Amino acid sequence: MAKFNRYLITAALPYANGPVHIGHLAGCYIPADIYVRYLRAKKADVKFIGGTDEHGVPITIKAMKENVTPQDIVDKYHKIIYDSFTDMGISFDIFSRTTKQVHHETAADFFKTMYDKGLFEERESEQFFDETANVFLADRYIVGTCPKCGNPNAYGDQCERCGSSLSPDELIEPRSTLSNAVPVKKKTKHWYMPLQNYEPFLKEWLLEGHKEWKNNVYGQCKSWIDGGLQSRAMTRDSSWGIQVPLPDAEGKVLYVWFDAPIGYISATKELTANWADYWCKDDTKLVHFIGKDNIVFHCVIFPAMLKGHGGYVLPENVPANEFLNIEGEKVSTSRNWAVWVHDYVKDFPDQQDTLRYVLTSIAPETKDSDFTWKDFQQRNNSELADIFSNFVNRTMVLMHKLCGGKVPPFHADLKDEKDDALFADLKASIQKIEDSLENFRFREALAEVINISRSGNKYLQDREPWNLVKEMAKDPSLAAGYQKRIDNCLHMCLQLTANLAILANPFLPFTAKKICHMLKVVDRMLEWENAGSLKLVNVGYPLREPEYLFGKIEDAKIEEQIEKLKAGLVKPVVAPVETKVKEMKPEIQFDDFAKIDLRVGTILEAEKVPKADKLLKLLVDIGTEKRTVVSGIAEHFAPEEVVGKQVTLVANLAPRKMRGIESQGMILMAENAAGKLVFVNPDAAVDAGSEVK
Ligand code: MF3
Ligand code: ZN
Repeated sequence: MAKFNRYLITAALPYANGPVHIGHLAGCYIPADIYVRYLRAKKADVKFIGGTDEHGVPITIKAMKENVTPQDIVDKYHKIIYDSFTDMGISFDIFSRTTKQVHHETAADFFKTMYDKGLFEERESEQFFDETANVFLADRYIVGTCPKCGNPNAYGDQCERCGSSLSPDELIEPRSTLSNAVPVKKKTKHWYMPLQNYEPFLKEWLLEGHKEWKNNVYGQCKSWIDGGLQSRAMTRDSSWGIQVPLPDAEGKVLYVWFDAPIGYISATKELTANWADYWCKDDTKLVHFIGKDNIVFHCVIFPAMLKGHGGYVLPENVPANEFLNIEGEKVSTSRNWAVWVHDYVKDFPDQQDTLRYVLTSIAPETKDSDFTWKDFQQRNNSELADIFSNFVNRTMVLMHKLCGGKVPPFHADLKDEKDDALFADLKASIQKIEDSLENFRFREALAEVINISRSGNKYLQDREPWNLVKEMAKDPSLAAGYQKRIDNCLHMCLQLTANLAILANPFLPFTAKKICHMLKVVDRMLEWENAGSLKLVNVGYPLREPEYLFGKIEDAKIEEQIEKLKAGLVKPVVAPVETKVKEMKPEIQFDDFAKIDLRVGTILEAEKVPKADKLLKLLVDIGTEKRTVVSGIAEHFAPEEVVGKQVTLVANLAPRKMRGIESQGMILMAENAAGKLVFVNPDAAVDAGSEVK
């Protein structure tokens, strides 16, 4: 640890467009918090940075769908997310937001510096645009029929049925998920970062320099870099986000993945005037905790940005986790297949450490892992309750019963190999825990904490102080010697309990506090340098009554959770289309309808009506004659698009003059919710003049 004099620990900024679930906790926030609590206990100079990511397309879309502003959305979810983390004891030094002024300034300056250094390419390209919603469409927001498997609801980037990766161009009958409109291509200008220019840097710094990174992380980076890096747009067309700080950039904002990681810098600025010590001095150890979907952004793109800009430290490690599944299935927020943190906190008040324990024990450190409620119960009952809590509780109860509620002395003359072994085990465990923590192997570290309580239980079992006291009662001559043996046993167990508080503290902070309370020691005892000491509780000191650290969780409670999860599951709504169907007209009789003469006609000629934006003048063949029809479709169709089309025509409508032209009929059009017109025409060619009935 000598190389570094301060630590800057970040945890991914979740999008403020939904609450957080236990997959988030397991993937990044709990490991980050464990690491930070450990560093703090070691009295390291550490800052733990968090916040919400409040820009990006999904937030604007959610706002659009809920008919509120993006600001409303992010305000709502920032609070929910913040409360969830606080309730779970995630101990950020700051939990900021990317909508803050300081962040807008920091990110814009960052971009401007890179721009001034000539690090962007300006490029024009064609992108899909939704003319009804008036926005450019990310590939995800275009759906259509998959050309490979025929799934009618494939996304513009991927078909979830057959797994093919797609581009929107390949979709059959593409439509916008926002308005159902057919996406059109539109030219737009953006600023690109030529990532290929950073290839030598990335190869040296990352592929050569950080072979120690976790396999899942290193592997993903390597395949990205080896696959060839390309220019990537760092700006977007949107009204929500950070304005591109250039004169000719109206309606352009920074790409959310450009601005969000800079959020770590902005939040540090907000936290401390010494922010530059953390970000710009070489003896800072910067560690990003993230989930696997964030790897390239934190390991490739953000470091390239930092390098390009210059003056910043680069991440020393990015210990990303894989994904946590729930009951054997992938988490899906849209299907509501998730365990929400705010629900957990409500349903299991004061049991944060149980969740912290289970999520650490099953953390997807090297591969995806699975959370099940049964396993949650099992780990709580058989590990936390039966082993850890049981040891502490027995120690406290026996101390009250056999030692008068005070810390008994340790009689050195009676020390034996069992005491030595217990102490040696403790020392070895501490070493292992440190080693595991420093290498981000949190599961292993936590298992070792449980092992210590297991040794404690065994020691207690071997010593059997409850039998000693019985024998003393039978034979008073044994009393003095036996009491000394009881004293020694409980003295050791109490010191071990204090050690457990120190060692469990990074993982189970609420529990560590409870132990401190029972032992009447101040929180300062939890400093890591005290680990391994056998002088943590003072002889003769009266201690509090024991309180149960972990009780058993009953089957009923678990069944309830499983039910809740299943009941909450929603069927996927793909491409929700809001159809505002117009109200029906009053009923008519058949005779009313029979009065209307509908014919199929073929459009022979079409031209714009001068000075009338909406009107086209059509010449329509209806078999027996050719009719001139004036139709209000000029905003939807160019004249050349309609020539040759068959249409349905009201043939016996009284002629009517429009702009001085006599219209001899009316053609029928269908209008969708977005106001888009389409022809009502036969689905196979028929003779002009055919009757429609
Ligand atoms: N909002 C992103 C997500 O939830 C994470 C952003 S991390 C940051 O996947 F570094 F960009 F902030
Ligand atoms: Zn498909």
